[in-house]
Amino acid sequence: MIKKLLIIDDDVAICRTLQIHFSSQNFQVQLAHDAEQGLLSTLEFKPQIIILDIRMPGKSGLEILPELKAELPDCHIIMITAFHDMESTIAAMQQGADEYIHKPIDLMELDNAVSVAIKACALKRKDIMQIPQREVADGVKSMVGSSKAMRDVFKTIGLVAKTPTTILITGESGTGKEMAARAIHASGTNPDGPFIAINCAAMAENLIESELFGHTKGSFTGAIATQIGKFELANGGSIFLDEVGELSPATQAKLLRILQEKEYSPLGSKEVKKTTARVISATNRDLLAEIKQRNFREDLYYRLQIINIQMPPLRDRYEELPTLVNILLAQINQQMHKQVTQITNEVMALFKLYAWPGNVRELENMLTKAVALCQSNVLTINLFPQLSDNKQVNNTDEQAEMTAADKEDWSLQEIEREHVANVLAQANWHKGKACEILGVSRPRLQRLIVQYSLEKA
Ligand SMILES: Nc1ncnc2c1ncn2[C@@H]1O[C@H](COP(=O)(O)OP(=O)(O)OP(=O)(O)O)[C@@H](O)[C@H]1O
Ligand SMILES: [Mg+2]
Repeated sequence: MIKKLLIIDDDVAICRTLQIHFSSQNFQVQLAHDAEQGLLSTLEFKPQIIILDIRMPGKSGLEILPELKAELPDCHIIMITAFHDMESTIAAMQQGADEYIHKPIDLMELDNAVSVAIKACALKRKDIMQIPQREVADGVKSMVGSSKAMRDVFKTIGLVAKTPTTILITGESGTGKEMAARAIHASGTNPDGPFIAINCAAMAENLIESELFGHTKGSFTGAIATQIGKFELANGGSIFLDEVGELSPATQAKLLRILQEKEYSPLGSKEVKKTTARVISATNRDLLAEIKQRNFREDLYYRLQIINIQMPPLRDRYEELPTLVNILLAQINQQMHKQVTQITNEVMALFKLYAWPGNVRELENMLTKAVALCQSNVLTINLFPQLSDNKQVNNTDEQAEMTAADKEDWSLQEIEREHVANVLAQANWHKGKACEILGVSRPRLQRLIVQYSLEKA
């Protein structure tokens, strides 16, 4: 690929320095010293990258930025700004500049920005995965899942939703426990009834009891008025006890009474109230282990989990990543008024190697950050530093430093060897995963390993 760089800056000395610097890196460099000349060169030279100064006599860089973008939409524009020019920098980023560099120019920083831009230009169509557009209703989150494990979850929800049974949802953090609870409520007998959620971990012991059961005026210091409890609010609907494993022994005893007798008394009151709320609880703790350590009552456990729904961790359902990315991106685009509809295959492949300790919530957060920082409509690897850190740990330093340009004279075999070695290292030599990413059969992978004498480090 011929790399073309245009520098638009009225400072002749800076232009010359940058010209020498980038020519020595095999760039074709053109210079322009004002906005008009810059526009002309853009049209004729068609650079992939423009380094654009903001302050110039005549039209400023900011003024011609929209024109440059209109003429060459795929061109990457790096703004050069003075430190006190923060406002114009923000304006430039909003108008589609890809990066900005402060004056005085730090060549390392500029090299970095240029190399990110060159990588983005080198992306071919086949490297990009198009995410089908989907409509999402305002603020509505829909639960998706196509794996066997998730289909089983949906099946159980379908079977039990209309019965009044108590349900315990277990699973690691971020696996969708609250979402499942809401889905149970929504497919239950009274979806229009209240869904009252309470996080048992977030409150002190006496507070949680008064939250759950309510209290009468003066029942404890600070109880200045009578308060209705969540169980009462949830009558005719569902109460969701999130992180139920955190309840103290005293509260556990009261909860047991509610589940057994459907009765309770508000704090400070002798009145006995009836509840008709369906109880759904969730925990990311191993309650059986807590029972062994006498932190959780065994009798309560069996009452809570008449039905147990186990949410599978994301690492056990990698096949669902494209669907999840699709739905999450649609929601994020809508919230942020953005149109990010593509993701590179490289990012998708790394998604399938990442362990996702924070599960779907972590995926959602990662995508949200990436969309916020994304300047185009493609999510590229540089927007996911967590994943590339991971990648560098597994690569040798030498390989990590190497850029696409350094490999221009490599043979196809050299590239194949390096790629297979990288994928195996990423997959921690899990051959099934490596086959999936490379799109080859297991015997073929085995032949490649022998052919290139690859060995586990
Ligand atoms: N199957 C799914 N489809 C779409 N979005 C999902 C799915 N599972 C989880 N999410 C999204 O991931 C985020 C986390 O889900 P949720 O809050 O239900 O998880 P959780 O298990 O309750 O997490 P925690 O243990 O941290 O409380 C939510 O924003 C939710 O919208
Ligand atoms: Mg939760």
